[in-house]
Amino acid sequence: MTRSAAPDGTASWPPPALDPAGPFAEPLHTLSWVLFGMGLIVTLIVVAALAVALFGPRRWRDRLGGRKLIWIGGLAFPVVVLSGLLIYGLGLTSHLTQEPEPGEMRIRVTGEMWWWRVAYLDGEGREAFQDANELHIPTGQPVVLELDSADVIHSFWVPRLAGKVDMIPGRRNLMRIQADAPGAFGGQCAEYCGGPHALMGLVVVAHAPADYQAWLARQSQPAATVAIPMPGMQVFQRAGCGACHTVAGTVFNGQAGPDLSHVGSRRTLGAGILPNNQGTLAGWISDSQAIKPGNRMPAYPVLTGQELRDVSAWLESLK
Ligand code: CUA
Repeated sequence: MTRSAAPDGTASWPPPALDPAGPFAEPLHTLSWVLFGMGLIVTLIVVAALAVALFGPRRWRDRLGGRKLIWIGGLAFPVVVLSGLLIYGLGLTSHLTQEPEPGEMRIRVTGEMWWWRVAYLDGEGREAFQDANELHIPTGQPVVLELDSADVIHSFWVPRLAGKVDMIPGRRNLMRIQADAPGAFGGQCAEYCGGPHALMGLVVVAHAPADYQAWLARQSQPAATVAIPMPGMQVFQRAGCGACHTVAGTVFNGQAGPDLSHVGSRRTLGAGILPNNQGTLAGWISDSQAIKPGNRMPAYPVLTGQELRDVSAWLESLK
């Protein structure tokens, strides 16, 4: 499967790497251009030296082969330039990974083969609720991401908001993101993690602060208790979906797969690869292996067309 646009049609795909949309992506953007510029200057100097060595007058060539120039060009120059760039880069980026300060918003993101478990944390670092494959943040304030992994090394990368940080089993890596304006920002796992690594995408949705509070209020309440129980809920039960998936407000409390408490409100399905609607939900349940080969959700060819319609309608109603 290939993608030419983000499934929700808002975040461009592939996510542009040179178009920062927040203060934590800006310094990396600057650093990229400074490094590119310095690399270019050094390349031009080397090419010029090469040209002199090959075609220059005798006197210049002698000077180029002298001991003094080797000490300057071969040792002093690289040491000074590379040390300078290192100090400059560290100064520009060290604040991006500092420990959260009291009151800073925190989200824990856990890389899983091949999706993202997202947990919103309260002020004490306790889990308030879970979501998957989508991060919602308020605009204009930093959000600290605590990144870890449940299995192999993944890498969290939403280029318009921040740099890449590896997600390593048993480690807690920190990163700050911030969006200056509302919008959707595409992301992608940036470390090969086997199987459908290339189809491990995500979306960060930035809301104006008031809209974010409204989203938070909806998300903190189970959707399933307000939704009218539908035949689809019984299909969900019979097929054993609750062994892997949690739906808040019901008996389903599986932990292996993504939390589905508000799956109907998500923009994408299958970790950023399909638009989320009843049709794609039914297709995914019926045969997700055809859509994202190797993912850990089994295909359910046993479900009839009616059962697929019922279960997808119920999931779609969990907003
Ligand atoms: Cu996860 Cu690559």
